[in-house]
Formats: sequence, structure tokens, C-alpha cells
Amino acid sequence: MKFEVKATKLESAALDVIVAGLFEDEKNLPEELGQIDVALAGLLTDLLASGEFTGKAGAQLLLPTAGKISARWILLLGLGKTVDYQLDKLRQAVARAVQAARDSKLSSLGCPALGAWRLANHPEAMGQVIAEGAYLGLYQYEAYKTEHEDAPKRLESLTLLVKAAELTAMAQGVESGEKIAKAVCFSRDLIQTPARDMTPAILAERAASMAREISDINCRILVEEEITQLKMGALLGVARGTLGVQPPRFIILEYFPKPSIKPLVLVGKGITFDSGGISLKPAEGMEKMKYDMSGGAAVIGALRAIAELQLPVNVVGLIPATENMPSGNAIHPGDILTAMSGKTIEVVNTDAEGRLILSDALTYAERYEPAAVVDLATLTGACVIALGHQAIAVLGNNQPLIDRIRAAGDRSGERTWQLPLWEEYSEQIKSDIADMKNSGGRPGGTITAAALLAKFAGNYPWAHLDIAGTAWEEKGRPYAPKGATGIGVRLLVELAKDFAGMSSP
Ligand code: BES
Ligand code: MN
Ligand code: ZN
Repeated sequence: MKFEVKATKLESAALDVIVAGLFEDEKNLPEELGQIDVALAGLLTDLLASGEFTGKAGAQLLLPTAGKISARWILLLGLGKTVDYQLDKLRQAVARAVQAARDSKLSSLGCPALGAWRLANHPEAMGQVIAEGAYLGLYQYEAYKTEHEDAPKRLESLTLLVKAAELTAMAQGVESGEKIAKAVCFSRDLIQTPARDMTPAILAERAASMAREISDINCRILVEEEITQLKMGALLGVARGTLGVQPPRFIILEYFPKPSIKPLVLVGKGITFDSGGISLKPAEGMEKMKYDMSGGAAVIGALRAIAELQLPVNVVGLIPATENMPSGNAIHPGDILTAMSGKTIEVVNTDAEGRLILSDALTYAERYEPAAVVDLATLTGACVIALGHQAIAVLGNNQPLIDRIRAAGDRSGERTWQLPLWEEYSEQIKSDIADMKNSGGRPGGTITAAALLAKFAGNYPWAHLDIAGTAWEEKGRPYAPKGATGIGVRLLVELAKDFAGMSSP
């Protein structure tokens, strides 16, 4: 899709369709639609007055213009209540608009960034969010489709119609939004790819080729021998089930535009398939466990976006990657692993593997003397029970860092909710024969998983994001079609901007 920003009036945009956003509780026609309403003999006023178009969030009505204005169609789009309206609602509205245009086989869409749905005085943020909504809303994973029900539908162009005075700021915002959205879609592709075609080695190769493509990112891939030399016993323990078949990788991405400043280190869980290991998961739904590398994919995507935006902040990405499979070599429940830090972990459940591989990555992170470490992982089913599919769980050892993450989540539309990490919770992971055990049972499962990670977080501010409930979308939302959401990328970009000292609305 081609994205253009033009200072053209709505009524004179010669496109297939233009969007008109209308609020539920605003019964007067917004000013910028006045001319169009006149040209259409009062049709819009009538539809509003009669209540035939409500303006409820998501309401849509596609009307032909019969040559009365330059565009062939006008799409009325409900924006919901004025009080609820903020940047994420705009992102959603644009996604709905591009989908409606695509599904009606219209190829050029005009989207006004003026009048009704503007958000006061943030032209750049508006441009960014509009671009994100459009690209994320149009995302489709088609790599394995050979049959299409119809001729493929494509939206060819989106033209953002803006005030001349705001053209530069909007265009800048659009450019950033495009880069961020493309990084999110890149992560989504990595996650959607079936485990057979997204092994640890392939994931590492995808990270490396991304790093070659984008300037200023350095990528190093540690293979089994190096992982062994580093004594990453927890990662190797999980990898044992497929050692010799699909060996593990430890992926390192570095973006260091500012020498001698402590970096922000991002750690992502890279389980390319989680069968549970010997503590095998039930068959139903197991196919979804290809998404157990969503944290890793988010980190790879975030590094891509941060480098493309050339943010003035040092960032490192660490992704321990392995499958979790049963085999004659797989670890047994009851085995004890010695992690890289030297601590011992009794593996009471081989399905609690994410915390094992992350613990070695948290130890490895220490060598960077990080300003902060943030890990992302589809870590616990308990997170889905606690927060459902609406929020990322955040826990950590440093409240100011958690506050900054929560604010970045709110700004990006990837919202978080904090859970407590009181020391009493670590009672549940005490082992009779090792330093700790890898499962604390069902009560507070998200917290006890974080309690284990906390034992490996070194002498740095650390926070953990559990994205188990938010990394996969079952039904489809405006800008997150069914499947991988790519969650985390936008939050991490916002956090990196914060670390770079840049403020956003
Ligand atoms: N990858 C899973 C967590 C998960 C579950 C993510 C459902 C997304 C949806 C993780 O490795 C796991 O299996 N966790 C166990 C831990 C338990 C054995 C202590 C869980 O949550 O059941
Ligand atoms: Mn598991
Ligand atoms: Zn897992």
C-alpha cells in the first residue's frame, strides 16, 4: 500500500472512497462535512437526525456519491463517545476504514486528519497512529495459502488529507508509524510461521538477516558449543529434548548509537514450540504453542523499529531460543539443572520451561551493566486467567521502571497491569533438594514464575512482562486480525523513546 499525505479538501479528493468519522453523542454534522452534505442534498444530516447512522464505535455505512463529489463513495464510520476518544480509538477507526475499503474492493482511500476526529494539537502523533492503524489493520498472513476464495483484495493507496500547516508534522508521524507497524508485522510473521519452519536456527537466521538489512544493528548468534561454554545449564536442559535435531540458539542483537551509555536490555522468550516436554501438554490447542516465541519476536521487532527510527538510545536484545520437546534425552521431572549463575533448579514440571531459559538470559544480561532489563514472555497460563486477553502482566524489582513501562503501555495502546512480587511468594518455589524448583503450583502462577526470574535478575532494575494472554488474538480486533498480535513491539519502542529522553503525548 502506498501512503500519501496531501493538503486536499475532502470534497475535492478524487479517490474511490473517503472516510467521515462521526461521534455517537454529537448530533451536529462536523464542519468539514458541510460542503459534502450540501452536494449530497442533505443526506448526511438526514441520516444523523433519523438515527439511521448512530456513530457507535465500529458502526459503518458505505454510501455512493453518484458523482456529486469527487470521491465515488463515502464511508461513514462511528467513533463512539467523545469522552472515550483518544489515540487508540483513532488507530482502531482507521483500521476499520481500511478493512471496509479493502473488503468492498475499493483501491484508493482518503482519510481526513481534520475536523471531527482530530486529536487536538498532536499532528505527529496522529500521523503515526493513523499509519499504524492502517498497516496493522490490513495485515494478513498468507504465506501458506495457495487458494483464494476471490481474486485477492488489495487497498492500493491511502491518502491522508491534512491542513497545509500540519503537512510536515503529519508526514513525519506517518513515516514513524510505518516503520513501527512494519516491525510489528515482521514479528507477527515470525510468530505465525509453523514450528517446523521456525526452528531456533531459522529464528536466529531471520534475526541476523534483519540486522544485515537495517543499518546499525549488530547480530551475534551463539550455537550449542558456545552455550555450553557459557554454562547455560537451564537453557541447555530445556534444549535436551531436541539436541542433535533442532539445537538451541542464543540470539544477541546490539544497537549502540551512543558509546559509553548504559543500555536498555530486552530479553525475549524464544520457545519455537512448547509441547510441554515430558510433562506433555494436552493435544487440544497444542498447535498454538508455536506462538511461545512471541516475546523473542517482539524483541527482534522492537530492535528493528528502534534502529530504523534511529532513536538515540543503546538497546540490546537477547533471545534464548529452543524447542521444548519430549524424547529419550529430554530432562525428566525431578532433574536438577545448574543455571549459568551457579544456582540449582529442580525441574518439577518440564512445561515450566520459559523461566528456565530466561534465567540464563538474565544472567548473561549482567555483562552489559544495563540501565534496565525488561523481559517479555508468553510465560504462564495463569496470566490468561488473571487478566484475560486485555492486559500484559508486569512485575519487577524496581517501581520507577515499572511505572515507566506502564506509561509506555498506555501511550502505545499496549496496556499493562501490575501484579505484586512480595517475597512471601517465593515460599512456593522452595525446593527440598535444590536452591529452588521451577513451579510453585497453580496459586498465583504468574507471580511465582516471576519470583523465580527475580532470583536471576542481577544488580539492575528489572521488569518482566507476561504476554501469554495478549500475544495471540482468537477473534480479531480492529487492528489485530486473528492470530499473532505482535504485542510488545510498540510498547518497547515507546519505552526506548523514554530512555532516549524523547517525550510523546
Ligand atoms: N508457554 C506456556 C504458557 C502459556 C500457556 C502461554 C497458555 C500461552 C498460553 C508455559 O511454558 C507453560 O507451559 N506454563 C505452565 C507453567 C506451569 C507448568 C507451572 C502453565 O502456565 O501451565
Ligand atoms: Mn510450557
Ligand atoms: Zn512455554
